[in-house]
Amino acid sequence: MNPKTLLHGSDYNPEQWLQYPGIIDQDFKLLKEAKLNCLTIGVFSWASLEPEEGTYAFGWMDDIFDRAEKQGVRIILSTPSGGKPNWLAFRYPEIRRVNQEGRRDDQERRHNHCLTSSVYREKVRAINGQLAGRYGKRGPLAMWHVSNELNGYCYCDCCLGGFRQWLKKKYQTLDALNEAYWSRFWSHTYTSWEEIRRIDPGLGGLVVDWKRFMTAQCASFIRNELEPVRRHSPDVPSTINMMGLAPSYDYWELAKEVDVISWDTYPAWNSAASASDETAPAMETAFSHDMFRSMKKGRPFYVMETTPSQVNWRDCSPLRRPGVHQLGGLQALAHGSDSICYFQLRKSRGSSEQFHGAVIDHVGHGKTRVFREVADLGQTMEKLAGLAGSTVEARVALVFDWNVYWALDAAQCPQNANKNYAAVIMAHYRPFWEAGIAVDVINAEAPLDAYRLVIAPQLFLLSEKHAGRLDTFVKNGGALVATYNTGMVEETNLAVLGGVPGPLRKVFGLWVEESDALPPAFRRTVVPRNGASCGLNGSYEAGHILDIVHTEGADVLAEYGDDFYKGYPALTRNRRGKGEAWYITSRNDDRFTGDFMRHLIRELALPQALQGPLPQGITAHARNDGHSNYLFVLNFNAVPAACPLDGGDYVDAVTGLPVVGPLTLPAYGYAVLRR
Ligand code: GLA
Ligand code: ZN
Repeated sequence: MNPKTLLHGSDYNPEQWLQYPGIIDQDFKLLKEAKLNCLTIGVFSWASLEPEEGTYAFGWMDDIFDRAEKQGVRIILSTPSGGKPNWLAFRYPEIRRVNQEGRRDDQERRHNHCLTSSVYREKVRAINGQLAGRYGKRGPLAMWHVSNELNGYCYCDCCLGGFRQWLKKKYQTLDALNEAYWSRFWSHTYTSWEEIRRIDPGLGGLVVDWKRFMTAQCASFIRNELEPVRRHSPDVPSTINMMGLAPSYDYWELAKEVDVISWDTYPAWNSAASASDETAPAMETAFSHDMFRSMKKGRPFYVMETTPSQVNWRDCSPLRRPGVHQLGGLQALAHGSDSICYFQLRKSRGSSEQFHGAVIDHVGHGKTRVFREVADLGQTMEKLAGLAGSTVEARVALVFDWNVYWALDAAQCPQNANKNYAAVIMAHYRPFWEAGIAVDVINAEAPLDAYRLVIAPQLFLLSEKHAGRLDTFVKNGGALVATYNTGMVEETNLAVLGGVPGPLRKVFGLWVEESDALPPAFRRTVVPRNGASCGLNGSYEAGHILDIVHTEGADVLAEYGDDFYKGYPALTRNRRGKGEAWYITSRNDDRFTGDFMRHLIRELALPQALQGPLPQGITAHARNDGHSNYLFVLNFNAVPAACPLDGGDYVDAVTGLPVVGPLTLPAYGYAVLRR
């Protein structure tokens, strides 16, 4: 695929409309008007491609490829395994997923195949081989899209059998497994491998291993899908469409199986009680964009799906206010996406998604507000074509790791309410997002040498190896920030012995003796220690979890202001080698996190996309291609806002006209400037 193209596309299911003469002609006319240059086809099309076992019907898809070729439209071709035909599901019951209670699914809904079934894998390989053989070298083909939103677990005998094999390989002996899971507890010692037939929620190590296994199974499912695809179509990149922070699989592992990263983004725009504040969905979306970009070391990722209008699966989906659609699209580009694709081109007439937003509404023409906004965004993207392939450079990394996510979730702790792994990380993300500072979102395994600052909130599960890498990062001059709930358990959820934060005790220069867990409404205060300079000012609120810490070399910058732990450390810094390691002992209010992070931003002189403080609700982001620097300024306010420029030599990347500050942005408006 030519990397120098921005894709503006959509999921498209023409097979739903074959009985309606003229519809497909109209679709191709309208997609041109909507300034779309790409279609994703084949998602859920299995029954239309193979109506009976071994009997194929490719005529309709041939027609789409021919039309696309004539019209210069790119095709993303999906393998159809996200939804299996009835004939397949009933002839081969073993391909249907079994739930935790042992009940086999009845062929309802979708995304519910067994990940292990050799029959399903063989059938998938067969249809993929047909598709790849027929279309794998056709001109319009831009990308392979494997299955759809892979997620969930299957507990059938095949999957559990596979799990036992996986465990045997990992632990070799039952003794080692029993040791790793501490299963003597409650007399759940395994005396034969066959006894592993349920995922006992009491055994945290087992739960986490099960999720690792299901991830491995999904990875091998993807490899199986791609085997015929890569054979027939070696030059076309492959992807899977991921879903934000979905808990089922470790996306970092799945990312290794595909050539490019893509994800489906459905922000709850215009849903806040105060209709004017879009910063919450904007920030959450920005965080995921940054993570997906980071999965392939900053190379562009793709937005595979977003709705051009409403969704139909939330309790309530307000209309997007005028301008919000474009703003959301520009946000994706700003964070490093080379596409904006929709679900869906034409609103289906029946079934689950008949009332889900689409580019073409049931009314059937393009004279709708949604359609016009899509076309406007398409026009802007045409003007920004030069952006394709450019990257984002970040000096800050936040750690979001699925192993930690699972382990924290599985552990039964004094504080079980709102462990909020993702939300706590995002609270640390916000100050950077507000300051226009690029952040990579990485896992515990990612290389750290590109970063000046690494923040790893609640790094609950920690291996010696990862701890060693963090230590090296600090010794080499990096700044590391961690919080309560760090280094509590090892790889299989066994508690660290010898004091928390385990292998990082020397790095932070402290020991956590106890942690208080407070009910939701309870607060304690955190105050800066006399003369300490760490950006803090006045008194802050802490709650939820408060570590009681003894320093072992660290300096104390802030302390608790009340309760029996008054005077104990609340924020510490340990100088080590050429760097420093900060520890935040309690869950604090956003004002604390903001003030402290801004202190680090100043101290470490972290580069901003736009110099100086940004007005409330405005963010700035930069992309670079080695020649030009693109500056995106986005206004998430429902009212116009002015934003000062930093005196750089700017040209509007859309109009080509010179720009002098301050910028005036309309409500939900944006500017893309080139330097
Ligand atoms: C997901 C799926 C699509 C569609 C949309 C609706 O992202 O991949 O098939 O169901 O949700 O929002
Ligand atoms: Zn199964």
